Amino acid sequence: MSKKLFIETLGCAMNERDTEHIIAELNKHHDYESTSDLKDADLIIINTCSVREKPVQKLFSELGQFNKVKKEGAKIGVCGCTASHLGKEIIKRAPYVDFVVGARNVSKISQAVLKKGTVEIDINYDETGYEFSEYRNSGFKASINISLGCDKSCTFCIVPATRGDEISIPSDIILKEVQKAVHSGAKEIFLLGQNVNNYGKEFKEEKYNFTKLLQDISNVDGVERIRFTSPHPLHMDDEFIEEFASNPKICKSIHVPLQSGSTEILKAMKRGYTKEWFLNRCQKIKDLVPNVRISTDIIVAFPGESTEDFNDTIDIVNKVKFDQIFNFKYSPRPNTPAQFMEQVPSEIASERLTDLIELHKTHQDELMAAQVGSIHKVYFEDLKPNGEIMGFSDNYLQIFVTGSEELLGKIVDVKITKASRTSLKGEVL
Ligand code: 5AD
Ligand code: SF4
Repeated sequence: MSKKLFIETLGCAMNERDTEHIIAELNKHHDYESTSDLKDADLIIINTCSVREKPVQKLFSELGQFNKVKKEGAKIGVCGCTASHLGKEIIKRAPYVDFVVGARNVSKISQAVLKKGTVEIDINYDETGYEFSEYRNSGFKASINISLGCDKSCTFCIVPATRGDEISIPSDIILKEVQKAVHSGAKEIFLLGQNVNNYGKEFKEEKYNFTKLLQDISNVDGVERIRFTSPHPLHMDDEFIEEFASNPKICKSIHVPLQSGSTEILKAMKRGYTKEWFLNRCQKIKDLVPNVRISTDIIVAFPGESTEDFNDTIDIVNKVKFDQIFNFKYSPRPNTPAQFMEQVPSEIASERLTDLIELHKTHQDELMAAQVGSIHKVYFEDLKPNGEIMGFSDNYLQIFVTGSEELLGKIVDVKITKASRTSLKGEVL
């Protein structure tokens, strides 16, 4: 009889994909089957995030709870970025943890479950050629890693210390993954990397970059949609934006992480671009792709952020009118340069966060209301218990229609009939 695996994923799309790899490896090598019932699990894994302090606190509080309710003899493992970051320390603080496997060491999971006390957290480990076993959460879309790690040194960010330096996965491996995904029924490919448009920077002999990779993937039979996250504003050259605009397989939604609108703060963050460059790139995208939807990440109250600096962020938000903003209060991370800079008082940080959220709501209301009456091609992927079917438009609007499972996996024209701040209702045409 198979053993049961309960796995919880915190954090980003990269972690979601690592979780798929973990499930696939444990299923293949140890016959584990997933369960959503913690008490029934023979193995409990938390795939952690360390980008801010909150998810790290959550890990330790959950470990305590999980240990209390787990079945007799069940093992507990910690994977992901906090595993890379804290390593042995996790077992010291929570001695009932059986193993720790870092975000750069996922391929070692099958070995780690066999030996109590295993800690695998080498951030220089090269997994780019590793052939993971097959498992996907969704039959309709396939996440595929194109690079590991990050070669930047943004002063607020812990990721280079948890996922290591950036290396690109060879394009033939990626294209093989794309073919496999399409064969198993996926129409949408979601490319993952910390800075996807820096892809191939270390390929010395040939000029093979992200634009070329996008072209090659779009030529694979059966690929209908390509999404990716995250591009870095610094690497958004004209060639990339023009490919994004003109290639019909590339979905017209893009995440452009701003972080701050102030050139001074961007400098202190070591982001490598200015306010003007960011505005210029967004303008070029909008000029070439009129129906584009742009999302972003913003950190408020980075150390040293003055009222004027924050107003520059507000200015960019007003000019670009992002469709979605992931707002964060700056969270000091261990061993990052910004941790040692002069911090902004927490009341000011909270005020700025609220201001930004409120401003963005007004933009969202305006942008979403303008969608009523428009027609979109929607790829349906989820049947809800209330008889609604959910899918996404090419430009990543979440759309619900009344319908049956016949629509699942199909791309169909839908007219929008009703808008709320974050989702839309429509009718199939
Ligand atoms: N504090 C707050 N937000 C952070 N991010 C990364 N590091 C921090 C930090 N120390 C945010 C950035 C990044 C997103 C994934 O998380 O906006 O783009
Ligand atoms: Fe962190 Fe900057 Fe790398 Fe993004 S680009 S993972 S914010 S260091």
